[in-house]
Amino acid sequence: MKLQFSDLLYSFSYGLDCVEGQLLPIAAGHGKRVARLCVILGRALGMEADELVEIAGLATLHDNALTEFIRVEFQDEDKEKLHFGGKKLGAHCVIGEKNLEKLPFALKHKNAVLYHHEEANGKGPFQKKAWETPLAAQLIHMADSLDTRFRLDNMDEEKYEKMCAYVQKMQDIRYSKECVEAFFEGVTLEALAGMEKAELFTVLSTEAGSGFKDYSNEEIHDFCNFWIKIIDYKSKFTRSHSLGVAALAEKMGKYYGYDEDKCTRLYLAGAVHDLGKLAVHSKILEKPDKLTDKEYRHIQTHAYQSWIMLKDIKGLEEETKWAVHHHEKLDGTGYPFGKNEDELGFEERLMACVDIYQALTEGRPYKEGFPHEKAISIMKEMVERRFIDKKITEDMEIFLAEKSA
Ligand SMILES: [Fe+2]
Ligand SMILES: [Fe+2]
Ligand SMILES: [Fe+2]
Ligand SMILES: [Fe+2]
Repeated sequence: MKLQFSDLLYSFSYGLDCVEGQLLPIAAGHGKRVARLCVILGRALGMEADELVEIAGLATLHDNALTEFIRVEFQDEDKEKLHFGGKKLGAHCVIGEKNLEKLPFALKHKNAVLYHHEEANGKGPFQKKAWETPLAAQLIHMADSLDTRFRLDNMDEEKYEKMCAYVQKMQDIRYSKECVEAFFEGVTLEALAGMEKAELFTVLSTEAGSGFKDYSNEEIHDFCNFWIKIIDYKSKFTRSHSLGVAALAEKMGKYYGYDEDKCTRLYLAGAVHDLGKLAVHSKILEKPDKLTDKEYRHIQTHAYQSWIMLKDIKGLEEETKWAVHHHEKLDGTGYPFGKNEDELGFEERLMACVDIYQALTEGRPYKEGFPHEKAISIMKEMVERRFIDKKITEDMEIFLAEKSA
């Protein structure tokens, strides 16, 4: 499958922004700002274009483990905003670094994410001094902490001067000499003008370069699994939902005799179908009581949000359609676009059936999933009401009964 790194980066950064905006006391767009500043610093250090692409990628994804970290370390504590620190801080670095190993991009800088909170004087979570950490980690650390402290998209002369004084003061304490020199070489007030939200990615993608790369099916699976972790950890109620939908969509693809490429594309659509849930507040996703109409409408926006995050990935147009239309109904009453049976192709219908079957059969912390027969009988009612496809439901009844027997 041919995809473009910069497109994927953009979609990642949008999704992660949504998570960060909810979980951290930080303004939306943090990942992109950190990436942009790292590119400015990297250029001041004389890095080549391909290295800048790497740095932009790593910086965009530096907090990729946020949702997983919170589930694992905070054991689902109900926190509006996390002011995490101390020993626990290192956990998201470890998980984040591990997740990146699986990404099929050419991210060669080992340990850049692992050590992105190390202080130059060795007082970070792993007590590494600056010279013991890779330069990419030092750059991300500097950009990350400066954005958190000074909000890089909102600079004026006065704030800029304060930031310069801070960076100078922090040499050998927070920041290495090399990073401080790069800062004063490259980070002018004018250079920060590209930090405004609207312009940011245009600048970044120009710098990060373009060009399609052909990814193998195995690489696509790894890429999907990276996303799946971030999405599924968003809610304790749906911890294996995307993984289940991806696997089931692929399994059904095999049942229909599709080749490996097509089955992988179905896996991908399943993996990202609920990507937009990153933009839905966890409090509503996890509300134990009945949702109000307003809350229900808010949850429904996830399908549209998935579309927003995926629509600009060139080469992924078909899979995006399959993924985004999983809540459309044949009678035209579904969402987000109210498509009807004339507009919904086979793969979109399949994805809708797979999503429903998976949701019905998977367990939740407070209840067991339905057995196969019960799930199919509920789906048959939906067929009667002209919501979902009759033939696919019948196929799933036979094929998945064999599998669950
Ligand atoms: Fe971090
Ligand atoms: Fe960060
Ligand atoms: Fe959904
Ligand atoms: Fe779903």
